[in-house]
Formats: sequence, structure tokens, C-alpha cells
Amino acid sequence: MTRLLKNIASNDPLNIANQKAIIEKAITDNKDRQGAVMLVLNEVQGKIGHVSPAMQAYIARKLNVSLGQVHGVVTFYSFFKTQPRGKHTIKFCLGTACYVAGVSQLVEKAKQMLDIDLGQTTPDGLITLEECRCVGACSQAPVVVVDEEVNGRVKPNKFPQLVKKVQAQETAAEPEKA
Ligand code: FES
Repeated sequence: MTRLLKNIASNDPLNIANQKAIIEKAITDNKDRQGAVMLVLNEVQGKIGHVSPAMQAYIARKLNVSLGQVHGVVTFYSFFKTQPRGKHTIKFCLGTACYVAGVSQLVEKAKQMLDIDLGQTTPDGLITLEECRCVGACSQAPVVVVDEEVNGRVKPNKFPQLVKKVQAQETAAEPEKA
């Protein structure tokens, strides 16, 4: 635990004043309640978007519980993320219908194109790749969810267009340089 708290990355929320304040408030508000670990983690995940290993160690120390206890909760529930997510998320439905319809080929294509794995974010912070469970659009399998938009019957050769659409939105959103 001490090791994790010695070398905290400069971009970790523990080193960013307003985010550290959110963590402190979550701890103060919940430390005496039953299920404090879960309550604090939920609040931090909801407001900051992830709980880094250093944040887990910090929360464990402040709540006076073992790091293993905090880490156990974070790894058990897929809701918790340990790294910051990208601005956009591309999720692959790994439900049965999508699996049978070949979603794994799309996952491979995405990994190749972006050079990251599922659960990771591109170095520019733009795109995070994730898996998800059935989104209820099985007749459209295989399904890829880009942010909130469900895309059905995605073919491997059409997949790059989805990624380019996300990248193009970003270029369009960039302010023009004078
Ligand atoms: S299995 Fe993918 S939408 Fe149902």
C-alpha cells in the first residue's frame, strides 16, 4: 500500500486538487456508514470515472481497511474502472447472438486498428474499447455500441467507418486555429 502511495503519477486524481477534494468528501461522508468501502468507491467512480491503484490504496488507508479488501471490490464489479476512460467508448456485445454472428472478428479488427486491448484507451485519450453484455438488439447481431448509439449487423470491413466517424467528430469539434 505504501509503495502505491509513494510514487503517485502527476495526472492521478490524488494529485489534482478538485478531484482529490471529491475523494476526501466521499471518505468523510461515508466512513462511519455500513458498507463504507462500497459507498466511497461508488461515489468516486461515479464522479471521477475511475479508481486508480493509488486511489484504492489511499481509500483503504483512510478507511482503515486492507488494500486487498478495496481491490477485491474493484475487481469483482465490472462497473469499476482502474484507468481513465477515453472521451468516446466503443463497446462490443459479447452476448451469445453477437458471439455467434462473429463479434470476435470485430474485436480483433479494433485491436489492430487502434493498437490497444479491450479495457484500454488510446494514448490520445480519445477512444476506449470495452465489452458489454447483451443490449437487447440480438436480431441485429453483431452489435457495436459507440457511446450510446447501437450499431447493428456490423461487418468487419465496415467497422473502420465507425472508428473514423468518431475521429471525424473530434476533428470537427476542434476549434479552428487562427
Ligand atoms: S447478444 Fe448482442 S445484442 Fe443480444
